[in-house]
Amino acid sequence: MAYGLLKGKKGIISGALDEKSIAWKVALKAKEEGASFVLTNAPIAMRMGEINKLAEICDAKIIAADATSVEDLQNLYTQSMEHLGGKVDFVLHSIGMSPNIRKGKEYGDLNYDWFLKSIDVSALSFHKFMQVAEKLDAINEWGSVVGLSYIAAQRTFPFYTDMADAKAVLESIARGYGYRYGKAKNVRVNTISQSPTKTTAGTGIGGFESFYDFADIISPLGNASADQCADYIITLFSDLTRMVTMQNLFHDGGYSNTGISTDLLEKMGELKK
Ligand SMILES: NC(=O)c1ccc[n+]([C@@H]2O[C@H](COP(=O)([O-])OP(=O)(O)OC[C@H]3O[C@@H](n4cnc5c(N)ncnc54)[C@H](O)[C@@H]3O)[C@@H](O)[C@H]2O)c1
Repeated sequence: MAYGLLKGKKGIISGALDEKSIAWKVALKAKEEGASFVLTNAPIAMRMGEINKLAEICDAKIIAADATSVEDLQNLYTQSMEHLGGKVDFVLHSIGMSPNIRKGKEYGDLNYDWFLKSIDVSALSFHKFMQVAEKLDAINEWGSVVGLSYIAAQRTFPFYTDMADAKAVLESIARGYGYRYGKAKNVRVNTISQSPTKTTAGTGIGGFESFYDFADIISPLGNASADQCADYIITLFSDLTRMVTMQNLFHDGGYSNTGISTDLLEKMGELKK
């Protein structure tokens, strides 16, 4: 059911790789809620061609940009403003990648060039998205910027390796830039800390299936899906959340505040039998 929450709003949505992507779901819902927007992804992701399907459904222009390149981001905002006929109201940063995770490197055996790449792609790019926007004055007053995080930023999840550090930086940037952009233009900046979700980035992490099940059994509401995450993101882009900024918002079915669940206790009891 649509509510017209984004009627007349313009935006930029990054990170839609395929139908499973959180950003893909956000694009579909943003369209339903009345927004017009540009889709962006790294030039290499364009080769898969999936994003063209989404662009067609959403009647959206695609502008390729490597999120680590300031020049690409300048071009992204300039072209988006030209295409959409003005500044944007919302920006979704839904980007993450760790070469160390891809290559199966353990936390005690990280390749440091790759570590820097993980930080650049997954965290610094969030800063770049905002610094470039601010310099070009590309976001309207009371605009909203959202990034996606994971609880490994606060607690140790051994298989998450350098992405945990990248997410900690990402969340810190939301506070730092949220303050700055709030003072300057009333633009709000938040991260959403999402449940494990079965996407390309998610399932690439070692032991994903097990910690997906673990989170599901701990959370009183179960794991939050990509669709539900998209619903939450839409509310953050809407005018109903204008005073929410500089927050890391858990969207995890209650996982982050649960010590142990009765379901897990039962399972442990069964194991002992
Ligand atoms: N899936 C999960 O379990 C989970 C949980 C919490 C948070 N997140 C976060 O959600 C966000 C979206 O991931 P997803 O789960 O939808 O997976 P996904 O693989 O569908 O999306 C990741 C996107 O990042 C893009 N990307 C990678 N390098 C880039 C670059 N240099 N420039 C521009 N784009 C680049 C990819 O092309 C892809 O579209 C990520 O920040 C991820 O860390 C995911």
